[in-house]
Amino acid sequence: MKRLLLTSALPYANGHIHIGHLVEYTQTDIFARYWRMTGRRCVYLCADDTHGTAIMIRARQEGRSEADVIADMSAAHQRDFAAFQIRFDHYGSTNSPANRALCEEIWASLRERGRVTTKEVTQLFDPEEGMFLADRFVKGTCPKCAAPDQYGDSCDRCGSTYAATDLVEPRSALTGARPEVRSAQHLMVAIEPERPFLTTWTQGEGRMPKEIANYLAGHFLSEPLRDWDVSRPAPYFGFEIPDAPGNYWYVWFDAPIGYMAASKEWCDRQGEAFDDWWRSEETEIVHVIGKDIVYFHTLFWPAMLRSARFTLPSRVQVHGFLTVNGEKMSKSKGTFVLASTYLKHLDPAYLRYYYASKLSSKVDDIDLNLEELVNKVNAELVNKVVNLASRSSRFVAQAGLSAAYPDDGGLFAAAAAEAEAIGAAYAGFDYARATRIIVSLADRANEYVDRMQPWALAKQPDKKAEVQAVCTVALNLFRQIVIYLAPVLPKLAEDVGRLLGCPMDRWELAKTPLVGTPVAAYEHLMKRVDPGAVEKMIAESRPADEAGAQGGAAAQGG
Ligand code: 2FM
Ligand code: ZN
Repeated sequence: MKRLLLTSALPYANGHIHIGHLVEYTQTDIFARYWRMTGRRCVYLCADDTHGTAIMIRARQEGRSEADVIADMSAAHQRDFAAFQIRFDHYGSTNSPANRALCEEIWASLRERGRVTTKEVTQLFDPEEGMFLADRFVKGTCPKCAAPDQYGDSCDRCGSTYAATDLVEPRSALTGARPEVRSAQHLMVAIEPERPFLTTWTQGEGRMPKEIANYLAGHFLSEPLRDWDVSRPAPYFGFEIPDAPGNYWYVWFDAPIGYMAASKEWCDRQGEAFDDWWRSEETEIVHVIGKDIVYFHTLFWPAMLRSARFTLPSRVQVHGFLTVNGEKMSKSKGTFVLASTYLKHLDPAYLRYYYASKLSSKVDDIDLNLEELVNKVNAELVNKVVNLASRSSRFVAQAGLSAAYPDDGGLFAAAAAEAEAIGAAYAGFDYARATRIIVSLADRANEYVDRMQPWALAKQPDKKAEVQAVCTVALNLFRQIVIYLAPVLPKLAEDVGRLLGCPMDRWELAKTPLVGTPVAAYEHLMKRVDPGAVEKMIAESRPADEAGAQGGAAAQGG
């Protein structure tokens, strides 16, 4: 099987990780863990996306250097990810020497192929701040419906899109100054020459969800592709373009190259050859992204890669947005929950499991219904899965597991036979299906325990061998389930590994029962979700003063 190079979108360095982000990192991490368990070589890479106007402005406002701001944020991101058991092989930064070198390499190849042109671009300029304003940094009255206080790209009220220069009464969101209209030379990359290639590539079998491929064919690839504006004039926080002093690569130019830079750093550390991963038929590259950044990953990015003769992604897996209780995450409702706030109140395993149970390979939005989370985790994980161990392990804490696997009426073999279907569901990003099958196995195991009643047998001194046999079956069915859940719940797998004194980290282990080994004293594996803790988390996520309640996810801007 080919090597797998797996990425999640690089989070912006101007905001903290929240539960919306975690959909994607959980989704990718489960995929990585599943493949590692099968023995396939899989490298999961990520990095902070550090460049652009937003970081520059934050640094100015905080009176710090950009380097300081991004270093702190990178540490915070990595802390949050680690706490949610998102395990990257390497976590880099787009503001790295490796990324600069790769940007230069790709740029040189675009130049060589004559893909770079220049164009006079007119933009609003803040004379007080001395900088051009990205659309998100201009506010004014909508030119279509006259709604006040709208951003420079689109109107929240009537939904129309326009150029920032069309806003009525525009003002800079940074200083409040009235912006001037100024123009500057920008560097453009021609994408149109790649349209025939992109048409074939995007429509390739399994390349991306069908609905995305259709959308691209219908909305973009049916007419000439416009040149892409890849430069920003100073001041801008990013890499200066070597052959165009005073101009910087737009953040979206260097961001995806950050995938490669993270790979390069990982390769250097591991003594691996970079070209084995990015210029090799033996590697499959899979990007996991949200539906809002499809355009960058399915048009610009493959065009750049092709120009510089790198391996094209095999698959771009796209997920929808997260809603909470059926609505957009909202600061004022307390549903815009930061990862760090969540961790103060709830076990990360709950959210990993809940997301897994909701995720399919489709692009549909996923809804986090908090009441459902409580019920699902308590009913499925605690009552059905963990309970199998808590109801049977203490009866064999002395004797251990039977020396030979007892007759269980075919239960273990039937569950072993599901390894393939569950594996295929993980490999196909259909985790909802994987968890459904696993829960049905837990149902069958519980029926067995209910029927055999080890607690009743244990009261009869002459039934020692039977108790051991029943608990050996129950714990083996439990172990199988936990192996199947290990990509989703790695911590549970580790804890159960300690309880049963066996590794849980290979898929094929689910095929063979464990016999003749000791069982450790039972320690709590998972607590029930306390609905009160969920309420506290929401209360803490609500801003203290309503003035701070505006806005949603941190915007990138420019
Ligand atoms: O949308 C975002 O959050 C971007 N920071 C994702 C970048 S992904 C990649 F291209 F770097
Ligand atoms: Zn409007």
